[in-house]
Amino acid sequence: MKKIVGVFLFVLMGTILFAKEVLYVGTNAEFAPFEYMENGEIVGFDIELINKVGEKIGKEIKIKNIAFDGLLPALQTDKIDLIIAGMTVTKEREQFVDFSNDYFIANQVIIVPENESSITDVDSLKGKKVGVVLGYTGDLMVSKVEGVDKVQYNSAPASIMALAGGKIDAMILDSAPAQSYIAKNKGLKIVELDSEVEKYAIAVGKDKKELVEQINKALEEIKTEGIYDELIIKYFK
Ligand code: ARG
Repeated sequence: MKKIVGVFLFVLMGTILFAKEVLYVGTNAEFAPFEYMENGEIVGFDIELINKVGEKIGKEIKIKNIAFDGLLPALQTDKIDLIIAGMTVTKEREQFVDFSNDYFIANQVIIVPENESSITDVDSLKGKKVGVVLGYTGDLMVSKVEGVDKVQYNSAPASIMALAGGKIDAMILDSAPAQSYIAKNKGLKIVELDSEVEKYAIAVGKDKKELVEQINKALEEIKTEGIYDELIIKYFK
């Protein structure tokens, strides 16, 4: 009996000593090419990036797929340790979480049917039915324009379907996912905007200074070692 207990304790100690600490990372895999589902797996630019970050700081990365508007609450209640989700740094979000240095620069664009010519900028959306995704920065942007008939969807693919089906006149989305989704949906085009620049960063719980520093250092190395550029070529070229 003593022997068994001894062996058990030995194994237990080993697991505790050598187990790599896990970082639970929340994402929302409806935002190609940053994060999306492929053959039942969550893949994309952000997923590869965060795995590299994990390697650099010696932690195992476990991804959790969560609704976009559930990500910040999950982080605040410690259900996850980080968020990587093409998430734009905003003043509002900074009240609840901290952000790493930014790793991608984006902006909002309008997607319209190919034959649409009256929609040229944000102001021309007045009186139009415009699809947005609930809680995205594009949603907030359109809310500031008076007279827009805003229709909220739960995901970019859902809004694209509505647009392709003629249920809405236009939709707003981040530029890179917009490119990716119109490539798969014939008959749609992009209207570029001179909208504000948005910075994507990794969100971390408040007062986890050390973790933020580790992530920033890892991001720095990933850039200087050329890994970042390889990922850009793989997912955006
Ligand atoms: N950049 C936008 C935002 O921060 C959209 C991000 C959506 N990301 C996602 N993984 N679904 O609101």
